Amino acid sequence: MIQIHPAGRLKLAILASGRGSNFDAIYQAIQDGRLNADIQVLISDKSQSMALQKARQRDIPAYFLDPGAFARQTDYEKEMVGLLRKHQVEIVVLAGYMRLVGQVMLEEYPHRIVNIHPALLPAFKGLHAQRQALEYGVKFSGCTVHLVDEGMDTGPIIMQKVVPVYDDDDEDRLTERILEQEHQIYWQSLQMLAEGKLYIQGRRIVTKL
Ligand code: GRF
Repeated sequence: MIQIHPAGRLKLAILASGRGSNFDAIYQAIQDGRLNADIQVLISDKSQSMALQKARQRDIPAYFLDPGAFARQTDYEKEMVGLLRKHQVEIVVLAGYMRLVGQVMLEEYPHRIVNIHPALLPAFKGLHAQRQALEYGVKFSGCTVHLVDEGMDTGPIIMQKVVPVYDDDDEDRLTERILEQEHQIYWQSLQMLAEGKLYIQGRRIVTKL
């Protein structure tokens, strides 16, 4: 069994492409003392990302890294790894980061990149997970925090939360109800890491108290 992170304050990077409500929830958990971590840096692949603005307001070092400026994904990721090293990042938190993570990042941060997905994996991977759940007709969906591997939404699962789907739900309502739970399980998962409680066993993550 491999311990994912020894007990101690986490040095996080947030990678975000959009509005950054998961970033907000993690930031707030740190401010309130619920999460033993520091956000060392925020990086976005979108210049207009709200998350970038929010990071600047919070005095967190914030970078727009333009994928279009690099010929290959590996070059983009090498630049990113340079920034992560510069800011002494130990754990990379994907919070609405809309691109696949490649080999360069995975080799630099093995078992150290986490993601949140708005469905109960392995159901409804990829984009528009809430719409997929509605269209399929499931009665329960939810959200998943997981480690990132080379697949899309396939890595070992840290935590999941079930959310009911109601007959009168539309995509917005379901998305909103799932998001509320995302904002809980993301910081809780990170806090488990900070407490050194999470171990990998095959593709399972187990908790040792
Ligand atoms: C969330 O629904 C998350 O599960 C998904 O992307 C969305 C990001 O939202 N990966 P936000 O930018 O954190 O508000």
